[in-house]
Amino acid sequence: MRKIYLVGFMGCGKSAIGRRLSYTLRLPFYDMDKEIVRQQGMSIPEIFEKYGEEHFRNLETEFLKNFRDEACIIATGGGVAMRPENRQIMRKTGLVFFLDAPFEDIYNRIKNDKNRPIVQRSTKKELERLFYYRRKFYRRAAHIRVFTHNRSMRQIVNYMA
Ligand code: S3P
Repeated sequence: MRKIYLVGFMGCGKSAIGRRLSYTLRLPFYDMDKEIVRQQGMSIPEIFEKYGEEHFRNLETEFLKNFRDEACIIATGGGVAMRPENRQIMRKTGLVFFLDAPFEDIYNRIKNDKNRPIVQRSTKKELERLFYYRRKFYRRAAHIRVFTHNRSMRQIVNYMA
C-alpha cells in the first residue's frame, strides 16, 4: 500500500493541506508530530527538554519504520527529511510531496508558536538560514514539488490530487 508523505519546513501547510487532501482522496490522515506526542504521552517541547533533540529524531525514524502498512496521508515533521534513512523509507513506501512556501509566509505563521522548540530557540535570521539549508533536503526527499505561494488551499489540493 502506498502512502503519501508531505514534507517541508515548519509552517508550510503540511497538516492543513494533508487534512484537505485526505478528504478529497478519501484516505486516512496522520500528523506525525501528533502521533509521536500521543505515543510518548508528552508534548514536543517536553520531549526536546527531557531527552534532547536527537532522541526526538530517533522517534521520528522509528515512526517511519513501524507505521502501519496502509494507504494514507502523512504530514511529517519539518526535520524528517534531513536524515538519509528517513528519505529512503519515505521514497520507498510512498509518494513524497515537498510543499514549497517562501520564508516570509512561513515565518509569519510560526513566529509565535510556543509548541515548536526550534522556533523558540532561534532568531529570525537563524530560522531563515535553517530554511535555506534544509530546502535541498526537502527537494532530495520529494518526488514532486508544489509551490504554495499565492495559491488557495483548493488550488493546491486539486493539483496534488
Ligand atoms: C521540527 C518541526 C516540527 C516538529 C518539531 C521539530 C523541525 O514539525 O517536528 O518541532 O525540526 O523542523 P512541523 O514541521 O509540523 O512544525
